[in-house]
Amino acid sequence: MDFEQQKKQKTEEINELLRRYLPKEEGEERILCEAMNYSIAVGGKRIRPMLLLEAYAMFGGTGDAAEPFAAALEMIHTYSLVHDDLPAMDNDRYRRGQLTTHAKFGEAIGILAGDGLLNYAFEVMSDAVCEQGENAAKAMRILSNKAGIRGMIAGQTVDLTWTGKALTRELLDYINERKTSALLSGALMAGAALAGAEEEELSVLCKVGNYVGLAFQIKDDILDVTGDEKKLGKPLHSDEKNDKTTYVTLIGIEKAEEVVKEYSECAVKLLDTLPYRNTFLKELLLSLAGREY
Ligand code: IPE
Ligand code: IPE
Ligand code: MG
Ligand code: MG
Ligand code: MG
Repeated sequence: MDFEQQKKQKTEEINELLRRYLPKEEGEERILCEAMNYSIAVGGKRIRPMLLLEAYAMFGGTGDAAEPFAAALEMIHTYSLVHDDLPAMDNDRYRRGQLTTHAKFGEAIGILAGDGLLNYAFEVMSDAVCEQGENAAKAMRILSNKAGIRGMIAGQTVDLTWTGKALTRELLDYINERKTSALLSGALMAGAALAGAEEEELSVLCKVGNYVGLAFQIKDDILDVTGDEKKLGKPLHSDEKNDKTTYVTLIGIEKAEEVVKEYSECAVKLLDTLPYRNTFLKELLLSLAGREY
């Protein structure tokens, strides 16, 4: 199987795994679960759960211990998108090729669906911690930290508070390292922690994820200008509409593409310093630089 076929198969496996963890649409609160499932069920590249599962395998993990964490991480990521699209934030109407959750279900249910996904992720993880013990507790600590007030939520906060103002590259990196790198680092670190990785190894993976996330967000900003709306599944020019400073506005598309390549290569070089190998993971990290959505 070549890389693309492997990736397709792994994505399908993750979709299947997610279906097992999603809540049943029942009870008076059915609409909440419908909105949660709607936002997560269709589309999405599933990069974060894929990184988590690949890091787990890379460090010798076998069996299904990482599955609840892979599902929980995609729930956390999806909640961040549901809230990111709200009128009070980026105010976007399309995501993953369909109406955004608030556009489909109304703003209040959109907010609650995000809350639901975030909280449900912690229910899934804490169940796993009760069953599995210490490595699982470490993974949950990592993900709660990376998703939290010094991680993804911090990045979204600074992104918003600086909207419409001129940013330096340093401050833009500060935002991107939090809003995007944090969950990608968390994915790699949590997967490895579940397989029993050492602290020093986790700290290397944290840096790998940092480069991956910077490259990933810069590419996202480029695609916001140059992408194909159909492939992207979300509207173009969201950043311009919201008057965001990005690498595209700071240094232009061509130089930004170079930075994406440079950071992707830095990530892979650093990954190679670890005493374990995962060829698929390496290819996946490099492929993100050339992605079209
Ligand atoms: C979008 O993430 C938000 C960013 C951090 C750029 P993805 O590009 O991974 O979105 P999905 O999950 O594939 O929809
Ligand atoms: C948001 O970045 C990253 C998140 C943490 C949700 P963007 O606002 O650029 O993401 P998109 O382009 O809406 O996916
Ligand atoms: Mg945003
Ligand atoms: Mg957005
Ligand atoms: Mg974007």
